[in-house]
Amino acid sequence: MKLPIYLYGHPVLRKVSEPVPQDYPEPQKLIDDMFETMYFSEGVGLAAPQIGKNIRMVVIDGSALEKDFPECADSKMCIINPELEVLDGEKIARGEGCLSLPGLSEEVKRVEHIRLKWLDRDWQEHEQEFTGFLSRIIQHEFDHLEGKVYMDHVSAARRLMDKSKLNNIVTGRTRCDYPVRYAPRKK
Ligand code: NI
Repeated sequence: MKLPIYLYGHPVLRKVSEPVPQDYPEPQKLIDDMFETMYFSEGVGLAAPQIGKNIRMVVIDGSALEKDFPECADSKMCIINPELEVLDGEKIARGEGCLSLPGLSEEVKRVEHIRLKWLDRDWQEHEQEFTGFLSRIIQHEFDHLEGKVYMDHVSAARRLMDKSKLNNIVTGRTRCDYPVRYAPRKK
């Protein structure tokens, strides 16, 4: 089932999410729905806050980017309760977008090299190092679990240039090819 994607300005995107308990009701259905939602909206990652749930769950599949970023081959993953460790300090700028910020993209500086510990959808533990664009996707999705979006890493000057588009998203006047949920109206 496709789920609506919550857009920039919605408070659910600004909360720090809670760990997923092992007895979470129907996690497999939720994970399948998150993958379906991500593929339909042509994203390469989707975090649970983006479908309105403040739990530490992410789905990723960067396989479509394999040609430009070979490290993204076979990268379909469900990531639950991740712990992320930065392994080197050099930051590289690359373009990013986000399903919660339709119609926008900006260069974001991120480290290249991380180590991630996580649980998969069968509750099996994993630990692995990631580099390149796949590391970037993971860092972007991890930010969502911390109540951050990529625009937070963008300079005030660049954000100012995006101001009217951001304002259209916040006020529910943006157009989108996938089902969305706008921020509640301010009274
Ligand atoms: Ni995002």
